Amino acid sequence: MNVLGISALDNDATAALFVGGRLRYVIAEERISREKLHKGFPGRAVAEILDRAGLRPADIDVVAYPFSPWPKESRQILAAFLCELGPSLFAPLPLGSKFVHLGRHALWTREAIGFHRRFHRELDRELAALGLLANKEIVEHHEAHAAAAFYTSNFPAALVVTVDWYGSGLAGSVSVADAECGIRRIKDIPFPHSMGMFYAGVTAALGFTPNRHEGKIVGLAAYARPGELLEQVMARFRQRPGDFRWIGSFDNRFTRALCREYPREQVAAAYQTALERVVTEFVAHYVRQTGMKRVALAGGVFANVKLNQRVYEIPGVEAVYVHPGMGDGGTGVGAGLAVLARRGRVRPSRFENLFLAPPTRDGEVEALLRAEAVAYERMADPAERIAELLAADHVVARYAGAMEYGPRALGNRSILYPATDPTVNDWLNHRLGRSEFMPFAPATLIEEAARCYVNHRGAEYTAEFMTITFDCTDYMKKTSPAAVHVDGTARPQLVHSERNPGFYRILAAYRARTGIPTLINTSFNMHEEPIVKTPHDALRAFRQGRLPYLVLDDFLVAGDVDDLVEEAARGAARR
Ligand SMILES: [Fe+2]
Repeated sequence: MNVLGISALDNDATAALFVGGRLRYVIAEERISREKLHKGFPGRAVAEILDRAGLRPADIDVVAYPFSPWPKESRQILAAFLCELGPSLFAPLPLGSKFVHLGRHALWTREAIGFHRRFHRELDRELAALGLLANKEIVEHHEAHAAAAFYTSNFPAALVVTVDWYGSGLAGSVSVADAECGIRRIKDIPFPHSMGMFYAGVTAALGFTPNRHEGKIVGLAAYARPGELLEQVMARFRQRPGDFRWIGSFDNRFTRALCREYPREQVAAAYQTALERVVTEFVAHYVRQTGMKRVALAGGVFANVKLNQRVYEIPGVEAVYVHPGMGDGGTGVGAGLAVLARRGRVRPSRFENLFLAPPTRDGEVEALLRAEAVAYERMADPAERIAELLAADHVVARYAGAMEYGPRALGNRSILYPATDPTVNDWLNHRLGRSEFMPFAPATLIEEAARCYVNHRGAEYTAEFMTITFDCTDYMKKTSPAAVHVDGTARPQLVHSERNPGFYRILAAYRARTGIPTLINTSFNMHEEPIVKTPHDALRAFRQGRLPYLVLDDFLVAGDVDDLVEEAARGAARR
């Protein structure tokens, strides 16, 4: 059975292709359009994955889409507003705040209905052009997130929790799932009690872009303690066992006032701690109630790696897994898995790896280098050559084979450098035009995990995808300080020899030279741009960032002499 999963068009539109019931290719449209978190139908991604799979649109049996049809989605949006009217009027808030909240919710309701009408019309128009409109099958939004989490978790049974901003009238859900009976919903989190909107609100109030820069707030939060602010933020929540309500959620004046009165680090710490407290107490209730020891997570809120560590630390939780495309970009994969599950064609399994874009075509890299008249070295042993450069403290941008699925670069579209020198973070942030408050993430050989990270057992699989933080050991802090945050944590990628052999060999060769099993791995992209997709994108980003070395599959390109001299001077000054 061939299924085309189209993720929600409103953010990070992504196409996923299942051939014979197995996930074959996934591409986010942003990687082709070069427009971050591309909105609208992922037409070029669909065309590319069909072409590379040798399929025509007529070969697709089902197109899966993770939102209700527009009339139903509109009713769900409207129902969320009407259900909020009574409780808001009786909420313990000043009268002005109640009216601001309801007024803004009404405005959001009108706009959301308009957005969904536009995106559904666009979806139907594009599917009709492909002759696939009659093949469309709808999956409720949180059912898609839940299917993505459970069916790629490799857990035979699990508690499945989804938390995001909004989807099909909800802001989250809890389900119990097992391989035989599938996924059974036991709890809805109604919108607007949305932890995604909660965190996006503080992101905007602190001057960053909501729905994009939430990771900066996670990093910033580690620099302060919430102090008395935590009580003020928590006073906006009403928690009961297995449930919570966020009162006055649309009145963001409260958050903006805190940002004016308190240091931004303290505000970030208060919101991060409140998020962790509300979500972990909510999840812990269902862990106790169901007796489930394994938890599978999806939804944009679980892009928060620190929150994921707290969920993992809930008493009784023995294993945790976060779907690597946890945001709405992953709902095309989830919707595809949900329609296969409806037909009994899928069971929980694990990703062999996430290199799910079609691979680079043979000869494409060398043809580009010749066309651009770029001097290059063909490496006889790429792993040894790259490790040699890294051991000499060079920064190496690596483009190799197929691109990763999801927001994280996992070695094939990565910038690598030694984790021994924290000052490189600042230098590279400057070169790439980035502002980050969390250090770049480490990639560590999986057999060295116990030497580097505390309490990682049960989370090794999810840590292959950089979706969780761990506390670091003293050894890690001493040998790889550039990867350790001020709170002593890191969000590693554990690298497995069979699932990521090319990258594993680089790490192993680096360890053989230095004794250190860890390198920094940050995504290969320029400021606010999507991760590079093609060799051409990689060459452009390499030149724009004036990086010292670029690896394109087996070819090595050195940067301008001036940049290499500057990098050598930086290394000498450090030594
Ligand atoms: Fe979502």
